Amino acid sequence: MPSITAIKGRIVYNSRGSKTIEIDVITDKKFFGRASAPSGASVGKQEAQSFPDDNPKKALELFTTNSKKFIGLDPADPKIIFDVLRSIDNTERYTKIGGAIAYALSIAAIDSAAKSLDVPIFKLLKPRKPYKFPFPLGNILGGGAHAGPGTPDIQEFLVCPIGAESIIEALEINFEMHKELGKVIESIDKRFTYGRGDEGAWAPNVNNDQALELIDKAIKNCGFSLGKEISLGIDLASSSLWNEKKKEYGYVRQGIKRNTQEQIDFANDLIKKYNLIYLEDPVHEEDFESMAAITKRNPKCLVTGDDILVTNTSRVKEAARSKSCSGAILKVNQTGTLYDSMKFADACTINNIKIITSHRSGESSDAHIAHIAIATDSKMLKSGVIGGERIAKLNELLRLREYDLIEGMADLSTA
Ligand code: PGA
Ligand code: ZN
Repeated sequence: MPSITAIKGRIVYNSRGSKTIEIDVITDKKFFGRASAPSGASVGKQEAQSFPDDNPKKALELFTTNSKKFIGLDPADPKIIFDVLRSIDNTERYTKIGGAIAYALSIAAIDSAAKSLDVPIFKLLKPRKPYKFPFPLGNILGGGAHAGPGTPDIQEFLVCPIGAESIIEALEINFEMHKELGKVIESIDKRFTYGRGDEGAWAPNVNNDQALELIDKAIKNCGFSLGKEISLGIDLASSSLWNEKKKEYGYVRQGIKRNTQEQIDFANDLIKKYNLIYLEDPVHEEDFESMAAITKRNPKCLVTGDDILVTNTSRVKEAARSKSCSGAILKVNQTGTLYDSMKFADACTINNIKIITSHRSGESSDAHIAHIAIATDSKMLKSGVIGGERIAKLNELLRLREYDLIEGMADLSTA
């Protein structure tokens, strides 16, 4: 059995230049694992809290004081890491030590275990085949909490290369779409500065409707057709639009307000008009009932919960009971440790809720989530299209082709 022999944490910076936690785990004195925690901009209320009192230094101090407790543990067993961490912080949202520690520690441990056992991480998490590549779900145009004034209220316009038969073909379709869309935006806006948001998506000065028209044009220019080579997805990130006092969704940049029924109608219309394969957080994070109405009406679209589920096992069970979602975002740092996430994935699978493993808008250059997507049988890996911290995950998928263990792409047909 491999055994942790050294452990060290430090503060580093994420892709937004904000402080985060990085942890090194060494197994059997020579196998080195490292991970640093990502962070969100549109954060669900029920997510694990990244740092105690918003203070990374405090998180690191508490971790350093307790780090000896992890020496001698098996790094390949996410449950053991979880149990010891829970003996230090048993709060629901890791408010004492912080979710960033939970993330970095549990991922660095499995990273070092994989090296000591000389197997890829995904194989440690799921010992048996089938292994399939997730479809890359790529953000090509965005606004909301990820880009500045003038950009659309909608947070993310996404592409999924549904016609691709290999991961390389899938990535190339997304790259082509991103490039072409840049040219299309430039052709209608001579003052376009090639500005991009936090996830590498174009951030033009257009409203929601114009954004969809531009994407439609780019699809045609590439010679693709909707539903054949490519399908569209949207993350409405509706909790960022929701005004709890007024009970309405504010599309401030477009100057539109929608009540709950209007928001449901808007979501249903978007799915119908653009044949969306994917719609994330169409309503705010406590509205399981409206999510259920949209899910029921659109059996071919993955109506996906992000802020509403926050990678939380109890919440996805609640969503299964109320039939609120057909898809679930899995973000390890929303829930804390790798073990918490694998439990969440099990609950999704048992309830036939499709998993979409996802990056955060503030990322590291780590690639671990590519393995987590494969190990959890994710239908998609949502990790942007361009930008070093996004490409790191996509390039890892390409490297994993060399293991000859993964046969083809995930099956989207039941979506
Ligand atoms: P976040 O956004 O990482 O800023 O929370 C991503 C998302 O909402 O999917
Ligand atoms: Zn989201």
